[in-house]
Amino acid sequence: MNIVLIGYMGSGKSLVSKALATKMKLNYLDLDDYIEIQEKKTIRNIFDDHGEIYFRKKESLCLKEMLDTYKNTIISLGGGTPCFAGNLKTIANKENVKSIYLQTSLDELTKRLFAERNKRPLISHVATPSELKDFVRKHLFERSFYYNQADYKVVTDHKNEDQISEEIISFLL
Ligand code: S3P
Repeated sequence: MNIVLIGYMGSGKSLVSKALATKMKLNYLDLDDYIEIQEKKTIRNIFDDHGEIYFRKKESLCLKEMLDTYKNTIISLGGGTPCFAGNLKTIANKENVKSIYLQTSLDELTKRLFAERNKRPLISHVATPSELKDFVRKHLFERSFYYNQADYKVVTDHKNEDQISEEIISFLL
């Protein structure tokens, strides 16, 4: 079985994937890392040099490749992955894949993301926390339609990665 973690930027997908992989004794992979290795560039530079459409095509191809290649792996997706190019269908059509949505509140996301916005091309333009909050509110609303199609959902606020992983394991048992 493969497990994919989805959720907005800053929802803790990478951190939780690592904790979950350790607890379940499975491998862990991150789609953004996989793309960066293939392209030999950071996500930031891929967006700057080629634009978002190029990134989304790569993202979709890399997702398919990972799901076809790896087994017994926890895969952390990018925040936008389930929202583009039929990627949700790709995931849903794989019998042995379970998807988990890490749902994090707007306040928590804004707090976490402001300090890290320069690493993330979609939010690097915002100048203040309140501008970021307005952006995330709208963006998260649009994306929730896709996120909510995951097999399971975990509310992450006030929980650490161990607690979130335990909750995920209880769904999977
Ligand atoms: C994106 C999220 C990022 C990365 C890219 C686009 C998005 O991943 O894939 O910057 O569209 O939400 P994280 O969710 O790991 O930050």
